[in-house]
Amino acid sequence: MLKRIFSGVQPSGSVTLGNYLGALKQFVDLQHDYDCFFCIVDQHAITVPQDRLELRKNIKKLAALYLAIGLDPEKNTIFIQSEVPAHAQAGWVLQCIAYIGELERMTQFKDKSSGKEGVSSALLTYPPLMAADILLYNTDLVPVGEDQKQHLELTRDLAERFNKKYNEIFKIPEISLPKEGARIMSLQDPTKKMSKSDPNKKATIALLDDPKQIEKNIKSAVTDSEGIVKYDKQEKPGVSNLMTIHSIFSGKSFAEIEEMYNGKGYGDFKADIARLVLDHLLPIQERYHELINSKELDEILDEGAAKANKEANKMLRKIYNGMGLGRKR
Ligand code: AQP
Repeated sequence: MLKRIFSGVQPSGSVTLGNYLGALKQFVDLQHDYDCFFCIVDQHAITVPQDRLELRKNIKKLAALYLAIGLDPEKNTIFIQSEVPAHAQAGWVLQCIAYIGELERMTQFKDKSSGKEGVSSALLTYPPLMAADILLYNTDLVPVGEDQKQHLELTRDLAERFNKKYNEIFKIPEISLPKEGARIMSLQDPTKKMSKSDPNKKATIALLDDPKQIEKNIKSAVTDSEGIVKYDKQEKPGVSNLMTIHSIFSGKSFAEIEEMYNGKGYGDFKADIARLVLDHLLPIQERYHELINSKELDEILDEGAAKANKEANKMLRKIYNGMGLGRKR
């Protein structure tokens, strides 16, 4: 039997090149060797305020993007988290065994809550919901970017805690990080990761952005005044981030890239990156536009929800039985 993959992306804004290189591209590469469940985690998105119409739009956009990048709906289960109630139900149980202290230590919680008024309690309890997402499907492998590593470690801890305390029901999942691109940085502040909810639109490359905008953002990416294309993450974070993007799309090593732009400054380097990125993204954008208003998209999501509900409810029953909730069935 094929091993199982689960992963998700939040419909919390325009999907970025960071999301793509950290997570989505891995989905495409791994889909042939695993039984995959790919989720649009809309319940995670509402841990911070969302405009309802925008959220609805972003859910559909993300679903169309999943297909446009090349995920095969025949092979993979593609669904929306809120259409599978077992996620929230199992999330509650896992919240009950998670400690406040360990949740408060999560870097993402600290980053998203620090200095803010009216932070929702769900921002703190997001990781047990993510653990539920993963554990409901007997998941072997979770392809994500580096920023999710800490949440995955917590998922493993919660699964082990439950197995030890109640019943041995959860498989302990492994993380899959991409070899390159596990942490793509902001184009405007290369010490910060690129994020789809960044209000500074110049800081990101959104997969569905207008090609001219993508080119403009790459050309105005923050570098340094040295004018030397050289990989040095500490001293030259902006150039190193752009070199990572170049390397992934061109297939060239950092040494080869350094050699290519020796004595040339940043102009040619950035223009080539823009071309490489657009050559990859334009066919995706084309497929996306064919899919976004299609009936096929809704049918795929309906089928995905039916399959995911069936699978998740089996595990939810085991969780409830393990804890003694409700009546034995
Ligand atoms: N900059 C990044 N580089 C590489 N991978 C990244 N991921 C996110 N940012 C980068 C990976 O993308 C997947 C989906 O992320 P998510 O939607 O679950 O939320 P996130 O990790 O919080 O991503 P964003 O873009 O920063 O969203 P917002 O702004 O809403 O918080 C994950 O696998 C993640 O690791």
